[in-house]
Amino acid sequence: MPQPFYITTPIYYVNARPHIGHAYTTILADVVCRFNTMRRAETFFLTGTDEHGDKVVRAAKKEDLSPRVYVDRISGLFRNLWPELNIKYNAFIRTTDTSHIAVVEKVLKKIYDSGDIYFSEYEGLYCYGCERFYTERELIDGKCPDHETEPEIIKESNYFFRMSRYQDWLIDHIKKNPDFIRPERYKNEVLSFLKEPLEDLCISRPKTRLQWGITLPFDPNYVTYVWFDALLNYISALGYPDGNLFNTFWPYAQHIVAKDILKPHGIYWPIMLKAAGIPIYKHLNVHGYWNVDQSKMSKSLGNVIDPIELKNIYGLDAFRFFLLRDMVFGLDSGFSEEAFVQRINSDLANDLGNLFSRVLTMAHKYCDGIVPKIDSTTAQELTLELQSNAVDTVSVFEKAMDTFAFHKALTAIWEFINQMNKYVDVTAPWVLAKKKSNRKQLEIVIYNLLEGLRIISGLIYPIMPDTAATMQRHLGLISEKPFQNLDMLKIWNVLEPGTKLLKSIILFPRIDLKKTTVATTSKVLDSKESPPEIKPEIDFDIFNKIDLRVATVVHAELIPRAKKLLKLTIDVGTERTIVAGISEYYQPEDLVGKQIIIVANLKPAKIMGIVSNGMLLAAIDPPGCSIAVLDKKIKPGTPLK
Ligand code: MSP
Repeated sequence: MPQPFYITTPIYYVNARPHIGHAYTTILADVVCRFNTMRRAETFFLTGTDEHGDKVVRAAKKEDLSPRVYVDRISGLFRNLWPELNIKYNAFIRTTDTSHIAVVEKVLKKIYDSGDIYFSEYEGLYCYGCERFYTERELIDGKCPDHETEPEIIKESNYFFRMSRYQDWLIDHIKKNPDFIRPERYKNEVLSFLKEPLEDLCISRPKTRLQWGITLPFDPNYVTYVWFDALLNYISALGYPDGNLFNTFWPYAQHIVAKDILKPHGIYWPIMLKAAGIPIYKHLNVHGYWNVDQSKMSKSLGNVIDPIELKNIYGLDAFRFFLLRDMVFGLDSGFSEEAFVQRINSDLANDLGNLFSRVLTMAHKYCDGIVPKIDSTTAQELTLELQSNAVDTVSVFEKAMDTFAFHKALTAIWEFINQMNKYVDVTAPWVLAKKKSNRKQLEIVIYNLLEGLRIISGLIYPIMPDTAATMQRHLGLISEKPFQNLDMLKIWNVLEPGTKLLKSIILFPRIDLKKTTVATTSKVLDSKESPPEIKPEIDFDIFNKIDLRVATVVHAELIPRAKKLLKLTIDVGTERTIVAGISEYYQPEDLVGKQIIIVANLKPAKIMGIVSNGMLLAAIDPPGCSIAVLDKKIKPGTPLK
């Protein structure tokens, strides 16, 4: 039996919405998990959200919500996004789960009792506006980047984790386990960091300053801060200390993170585990950043790319493929929609898609749409090379997937696709079909091509599960699902002669490069087109007839089968329904709680069978759209003048 496999993503902060960076990490975890199920390993895949801390409190305050309501909402956005990207996690952990809190308390107590947590005074640069300490490096010209004021030096007593005690042990552990942190560049980065003496880690905040956290089990006046809470999710989700899941999976734990959180995962976490007497995880897999216009995506730069938008325009499997193909694991990559479209056209539409439809069309034309029967003694000469190429491909693929070299795994598959395309050209079935005496050879060639497609469909399964299933269905294999078994890809002659094949289809339509449409906010702002002309003047009396009101969105949902419409239940003093054509730009959950402006006395209109009682105000400039909202809370129903 292969070893069990446990994979985790970082638990994401709930002060921002998910973007393609988060999607990349989580898709990777899904891909490696699916790959390990192909090996018949028992697998467990964990993701979740990190919900404590002052940033969350501030984000909630901004929306006039309690932290609890706020974290429920944003955590829900992450949880609901993943199934839409065909990501099949086993557990979704939240740091506000009571079972997680209990584990944090237990581990803190254990380390405190053993003497590795101590109480001491801390001096630092504190910004009263942000209610937090800053490091020198975070300041701009010595000032808080948000408030543009100089922080004050203040002293505060806090609890500290004695990391320095474990520095030599960690260096030794990393050197003895060369692939503990991979790729190598990040192992070297951690080792070079460990050349300097490690400072102890401040793990608490006084409750006078922060309450949205987990109370220290040994001091009710303090909560634990950031990493001691977050990192422990990886074991609390498995039921540490004695859950079945913990016993089965923890010895095989692998984490995936981006380089932003290398230090907590490569240094704090192994030391925390060591201090608590818990075995150390097996691998830390570190990837680079997806950048847009040379900068890391961020809300303030307005260059955040929404994964759902890409999926809706280009299809999910193309999106998953592109993310894995265009980033060398460990290095940064620049996201460009043009590069994405080029990949779809060349690798998916041309190479894979063409091969698939070419082979199926020939199988229908020359073999009546069924897998031909072959005589393996005469098949030798026409089969050996292709078969040995397939065996080599599977072996390169397996090694590459095992070491997170996804682009190499995909390059190997595409090399085989090219070999298949060449095989078609060299054997020229259309020539063989001209002579009856070549019948046997023709059938062998078609059989081999179908076998090659079966192997390709198996290899792409972890990355493009839907496309793999479509290919399998066309090859008449759906009931057996051999694509979920790596061993079946190592043997030839699996397809049963006589099996009915489905008619060829286009797997990936070609995309016109000129029609690329994904909106990042920066693209929208850069638009050079001038706005439409101002309409002719009207009298104040006419304007005064329009009854504009404040409305709070109580509920929002998509209208089935409508391409652009959302149905909103709003509170304008009383509840009513309106229909708005903004579903391409807003998810229903984006709108709930927002205070919008509506035209309240517009004649009701029936849209897709729903009576709309009014209209919301929005600025629509495709691909951008922004609804008019109020900057402070106000009683619903208040008129606008
Ligand atoms: N809550 C902490 C992690 C605690 S884990 C015990 C955190 N959260 S986060 O929301 O900021 O997520 C950071 C992670 O999101 C990165 O490590 C990476 O996995 C993913 N990414 C966020 N932006 C990214 C890019 N621009 N590019 C690639 N991955 C990115 O840190």
